[in-house]
Amino acid sequence: MSQSLLNEQLLLIAKKFGTPLYVYHAERIKEQYDRLQSAFRGSDTHFFYAAKALTNINILHYIRSIGCNIDCSSINEAKLALKAGFTPDNILYTSNNIAFEEILEAQRIGIHINIDSISNLKKFGEHFGHSYPVGLRVRPNIMAGGNLKISTGHADSKFGVPLEDIEEVLNIAKETGLLIRVLHIHTGSEIKDVAIFTRGIEILLNVAHQFPELEVIDLGGGFKVPYKPDEEGTDIELLGVKVKDAFDMFEKKYNRHFQVWFEPGKFLVSEAGYFLTRVNVLKPAGDALFAGVDSGLNHFIRPMFYGAYHEIENISNPFAEKRNYNVVGNICETDTFAENRMLPEIREGDYLVFKNAGAYGFEMASNYNARFKPAEVMVKEGKSYLIRRRDELADLLRNQLEII
Ligand code: LLP
Repeated sequence: MSQSLLNEQLLLIAKKFGTPLYVYHAERIKEQYDRLQSAFRGSDTHFFYAAKALTNINILHYIRSIGCNIDCSSINEAKLALKAGFTPDNILYTSNNIAFEEILEAQRIGIHINIDSISNLKKFGEHFGHSYPVGLRVRPNIMAGGNLKISTGHADSKFGVPLEDIEEVLNIAKETGLLIRVLHIHTGSEIKDVAIFTRGIEILLNVAHQFPELEVIDLGGGFKVPYKPDEEGTDIELLGVKVKDAFDMFEKKYNRHFQVWFEPGKFLVSEAGYFLTRVNVLKPAGDALFAGVDSGLNHFIRPMFYGAYHEIENISNPFAEKRNYNVVGNICETDTFAENRMLPEIREGDYLVFKNAGAYGFEMASNYNARFKPAEVMVKEGKSYLIRRRDELADLLRNQLEII
């Protein structure tokens, strides 16, 4: 669909359902999944959608319907996945720093589990050694990712069991009979450089010989998507070739076959999502103008929390002359979506769309300032469906107990 047709469609949807509003294009998710499937067709690679990016039950249903597996970061995500029709065998649970009780619950459901601490690994071995194979999340000591907040594999990171503690893991396996079937890493989000992934493969294949039950190398998520118009994402096709080469070579040399798993979040849903807002007020801002929209960091925190750049379009006045704007929110915080952004003239009442809002957009929204969370709409086969109604006052009070 051309940009202007898309903007017309989004404008109609904004007017129909109101703002602030998240809109997801289902088929765009499938396009991304198809691209992965085709890039990795030369190897035994399987994909688990990182549900934390967006968990609306309709999105989960859709992801399942296109044949993708799912990766969860909490037991509740796993329960949502079951509700969406995933079978335990298609569900992976990659946790970090969770209580052992939650791991027990995951085991009872029968899903794949990646464990990320020596302490939980030991407990798991004592309970289920010999009987329930697990994955080990390794901290590979690689610095990678778009910014430090989303870098998870470096030497000071809280995630995973440090590479240097592998000996201890092996001792636990020996003592308890623990079967380690998966070695997992997730080094960060927004990793453009294919070499970071191949470095991860190298590190895991280097220790693979110490794990006789190993069947899977899980490389986590982190594929970068382009945020700016002139930006490039991870070269998925090149990575597909590198993965095939590395694992073919290993198989030839050691006569061992591994499945490869990836857990993409952003790659699957980021570009499928749009966040629609309406401009409440205009105010002078030095050389620019403030455009204050009917939303803020409570609904879309990426620009403020990570300094993330999201393209903005004025879809109700797209052909006007451009001016300089600071696009800001209505929350009692400094919630700047964009500074010094050249946009077609904005009038009060205009609709602004933020692109690349499918991943970690709604999912990180809150009711701060007692504002309602946005509604969500899914566009599928050209039709738009409300998939989450807007909050109302009762939602803000739902779990509160009035005691005075
Ligand atoms: N697997 C694991 C174990 C993860 O921790 C994550 C993301 C993923 C997969 C998916 O990563 P992705 O493909 O989406 O990059 N809220 C941040 C991103 C946090 C990512 C946390 N873990 C943001 O909006 O940039």
